[in-house]
Order: sequence, then structure tokens, then C-alpha cells
Amino acid sequence: MAEEILRITGGHKLRGDITVQGAKNSALPLMAASMLCEGKTVLHNIPQLTDVYAASRILNRLGFRCTISDHTAEITSGDGDTEIPDEDMRAMRSSVMFLGPMLGRRKRCVITMPGGCELGPRPIDLHLEAMRQMGVQIREQQGKIVCQAERLHGARIPLPFPSVGATENVIMAAALAEGETVLTNAAREPEIADLAGFLNRCGAKIAGAGEGTVVISGVRKLTGTEYRVMPDRIAAFTWLCACAAAGGTVCICGTEPDDMESCLSVLTAAGCRLGICRDRIYLDCGHPLRNVRYIRTMPHPGFPTDAQALISAVLCTASGTGMIEETVFESRFKHVGELLRMGADIRVSGRTAVISGVPKLHGAEVEAMDLRGGAALAAAAAGAEGETILRGLRHIDRGYDHFADTFNSLGGTAVRSVISSAVR
Ligand code: EPZ
Repeated sequence: MAEEILRITGGHKLRGDITVQGAKNSALPLMAASMLCEGKTVLHNIPQLTDVYAASRILNRLGFRCTISDHTAEITSGDGDTEIPDEDMRAMRSSVMFLGPMLGRRKRCVITMPGGCELGPRPIDLHLEAMRQMGVQIREQQGKIVCQAERLHGARIPLPFPSVGATENVIMAAALAEGETVLTNAAREPEIADLAGFLNRCGAKIAGAGEGTVVISGVRKLTGTEYRVMPDRIAAFTWLCACAAAGGTVCICGTEPDDMESCLSVLTAAGCRLGICRDRIYLDCGHPLRNVRYIRTMPHPGFPTDAQALISAVLCTASGTGMIEETVFESRFKHVGELLRMGADIRVSGRTAVISGVPKLHGAEVEAMDLRGGAALAAAAAGAEGETILRGLRHIDRGYDHFADTFNSLGGTAVRSVISSAVR
């Protein structure tokens, strides 16, 4: 069977500037939220990702009309089914974000468990419990989760954990519910504020998004609008890490540096020289880096779990020893085994990885096991001696818009080609 790979020749510095893509983790909830609106919604700066096309398929299956052209999504309201087919639920881990808007708009939604195991179990108990508190009856039926309500009413919902997806689902379901919903211990990720900004422009009444307590006063109707998706802070960090790993000087444009403070401070601590000017982040890395003693992934504004694999790739060749603790997901070190194949010295025990810097990595055949792990391997390959063959590109295509082209416009040498997997 044919398989796509990336051949990356490392060992030379990166140089150049790019404009970062629109945020995957905002585009997806915004596409789901458009289901709450009458009329047409136009979303600009949509990244071209397989997850975005999967979300478009779900919208069309549910009777909405979604078309994606270039970096714009047009979604027109319509009637239709309330069941999301199992294959769609499995295609995209974050398909659960259609639950809230479906219940908000049609008071019924049938889903199956979204796929798990990539980063550890991906339960949706916080989502379901929050919906119950808003008056939704939920029952399991032959592996399907049937959710329905006579009416959705506001509630006081304390989240046991600041889950990003659960926060988004509550905001979307509460936007059209009767009465007021007060969500406490809400996720503070910048994508939450982007979602609220969109919904408020459609006529919603949401206050406090981006803070720990969000208050949503339900309204009777929302009307579609035009909106621009925020920049992707993790994609921006990805390109900064590629330069930190390979050395060189790059500028990432169209970013929101205020959303990236915890990430940028770690790069500075490692010895990178950073310059920030409005929406541009300059990084200069002309010399060996030093390891960062201790990094702990935390909900925003802490160091993001999505950045953990990426900074690991940088610190493999930083002098000294550093420790990274992954507190958000149970199993998010799958990239370590692949970095070891490139000569890294990393020891994982439970949720902690200890990185001892080595002078250089060398090219190897490696495989992406998840989205950010795959991008981290490409960043490591940029700084490694020799050629790296990177497999598992389907993971990278889920979250990066034209990954190889962007990498190469920064001076990388990634060639995407098809091989027969008999060659493995
Ligand atoms: C969002 O996932 C992002 N995805 C993830 O990005 C990101 O890693 C994550 O937030 C944390 O920032 C999108 O926005 C599409 P969570 P989400 O609910 O909403 C547990 C990427 O690489 N949990 O905050 O699924 C869960 O198992 C992706 O772009 C429950 O136990 O994350 C995890 O351990 C990967 N029960 C923790 O909470 C629930 O009901 C954080 O999950 C929900 C979550």
C-alpha cells in the first residue's frame, strides 16, 4: 500500500518569515457554534486541515450547508438529523464539540464516544454532566449516547477540571438556553474568548470568557455573522521551536504574542533571543541552548500541554538536564521513543520526562503518533545531522496547513513523497 512520508534533511539553519495559520482549536468550535445561528455564517482565516474538512462533513450530514473555499468557511443554517454518524465521531477526536450546539438548537443529539488512546483516554464525562445540569436526559443505547431535552435551562455549573471542550460545550448550549448559566472553574484558553467573541457578535450574551467564571444569559435567537478566526498559537510555537532546534533567525507574523507568554518565556529561559513587535515574533538562535530545569504543563495561562512535545524537541540538544511534567493528559510522551531513535537522551517515568542534552541528533526513520508529537519530530529533524524519514503524516495534516511548504519557506528541506509501504 502507498504511504506518504516527509524526507527532511537537517543540519542547516532556518531563515525566513511566515504568517501563521488560523487556529485549529478555534476554527473547529466556531464551525460547531455556527449551528446555533439562523442564516449564514462566514468564517475567515480557516486553516486547511483534515479536521476542518471532517467538521464540514458533520455539518453537512446534520442538514447545514457548509462549503470551504480557500481559507473561508460558509455555513448556512438548515434542518436535518440529530445523529452524528460513528465514523464521523471517530474521524475527529473533538467531534464531541457538536454536542452543545446541537442540544442548544435542536434539543437532541446522538453521538458515540470520540476516539481515545492517542493522548490517553478521552472521556466526555464533564461534558455530559454539564448537559444534565441544564436539563438534558442522557442514556446509552447500543453504544450510542442519546441526549435530549424538552427545554434547556440555565444552571450553576462548577467544572471539576477546566476542560477546554466542556467549557466550549456549555457556552454553546447555554447561549440559547432559558435563563442564566454560571460556569465556574472554566478553561481560560484564548480560544474560549474567540468563541464568545463570535457568539456575542451573533447576538449572544456571554461575559467573562477567558476568565475562570463565565456567565451566559440565554437569548431566543442568534443570527449568523462574518468572523475571523484567531491565529494558531501552537502552530506559531511550532515554527519557533523548529528554529530553536536548527538554529537561525525567523519571524512569525500574524500572531497574538499575549496568548503565548508561558511558551515564549521558556524559549527565552533556554537561551533563545526573542523580539516582539505587535503581531510579530522574532527568534534568533545562533548558539547552543541550555536546558530548562523544570517545565510543568498546565491549563492556560500555564505552559500548554500542546507545546510539550515541541519544547522537548528543542531541549534534546540543550546543555544540561531538564525535567518536563505532563499534568493534563495521561499519555503524551509517545514522541519520546521516536526522539530516542534520533539519538536523544530522555527518560520517561509516569508523567515526567527527564531530558539530558546531547551535542547533536542524527536523522532516522521515525513515526508521528499524534499531531504535536509529529510536528516535534520534524522540528528535531531540522536540527539533526543527515536525513530523517517522517511517517504518520495523517496526524500532522489534522492540525497543520501545508506543513512542508511552511517549513520550507523558513529554509527547511522537507520533501513529501509517496513510497510503497512494502519498503518499511
Ligand atoms: C482541547 O482538547 C484541544 N483540542 C487539545 O488540543 C488540547 O490539548 C486540550 O484542549 C488541552 O488544552 C481542541 O480544542 C480541538 P480538555 P479537549 O477537555 O477539549 C480530561 C491539539 O493538539 N477530560 O481540556 O479534549 C481529558 O481526558 C489538541 O491541538 C475528562 O476527564 O481537552 C484530559 O486529560 C490535542 N473528562 C483533560 O481533561 C472530560 O469530560 C484535558 O482535556 C473532558 C476532559
